[in-house]
Amino acid sequence: MNASAPGKMILFGEHAVVYGRPALAVPVKQVHADVEILDSNSTGIWIHAPGIRLHSELNALPSDHPIASVIHNFLFLARASLGEGRFPNINLTINSTIPVASGLGSGAAVTVALVRALSSHLNYPMSEEDINAFAYDIEKIYHGAPSGIDNTVVTYAKPVYFVKGQPIETFKVGTPFTIVIGGTGISAPTRESVADVRKLWEADRAKWEGVFDAVGKIADEARMRIETGEPALSKVEGWRLLGGLMNQNHERLQEMTVSSPELDLLVEAARKAGAAGAKLSGGGRGGNMIALVERENADDVSSALISAGAKNTIITQVA
Ligand code: PMV
Repeated sequence: MNASAPGKMILFGEHAVVYGRPALAVPVKQVHADVEILDSNSTGIWIHAPGIRLHSELNALPSDHPIASVIHNFLFLARASLGEGRFPNINLTINSTIPVASGLGSGAAVTVALVRALSSHLNYPMSEEDINAFAYDIEKIYHGAPSGIDNTVVTYAKPVYFVKGQPIETFKVGTPFTIVIGGTGISAPTRESVADVRKLWEADRAKWEGVFDAVGKIADEARMRIETGEPALSKVEGWRLLGGLMNQNHERLQEMTVSSPELDLLVEAARKAGAAGAKLSGGGRGGNMIALVERENADDVSSALISAGAKNTIITQVA
């Protein structure tokens, strides 16, 4: 049995989304986590993840190992239908092309692909909703108080207008557009940047509620522009306006102290190379930034990012 889940990027609204404001996120299909499960002759559940040089039987791993905990939680959930002592002997191989701890949803994608593969292989049917809820529970173990945006986009693999605690709402992309993702190569735990924003908020709620409101408005306007293409304006103008919203969102994230010199440098480099707008994406402090570019200009912006210190870039179409 094979299963797969894509990476994701947040276009607008990270951090404010933790406080109930809307955020927009889309799948990044160029990168993905893939899981293959085969029956085996050796006893136990064998896990192979060549990318992290992991080859181990499940019970030889600490129970809080991220991969082990997904499997243990799944087996616990499915225990009644699998039957006591009748766990199968399987070989489970995990491959992921999603950079870890970089804001591209690698953890959520591995969880979703793993649970999908286990549920099919072991005949324990799970709906997309079940898989999403399962992945959210796992995110909670590793990320403190996540909004749930990562697991949602990765599970449904569609553009999502996300409001914490609300039913899933997808959105349409009127005119496809191109994004260049630039990676700082710095792995930054989202848990910490989320905790730091919470400290700011606790110290001055009125101020930060205002900032989060502004970010929510940016996300709403961006959704409108993305859905309709370019409302009542020329294509180029509409595209510039969407880029301008990214720039405004980045400023708000700087205020929240979740940008970093490396991210700011890449954001600047992308704008100088002709991007309509750029911002950090995800938890911040490291990880990735994104730039809205014209398709013809994507390679130039990508090269400019590499020259400015990006460790890798991905050119992706949002459609
Ligand atoms: O770092 P990422 O891509 O997992 O994004 C986190 C997004 C935040 O809004 C900062 C946190 C959250 O749980 O929504």
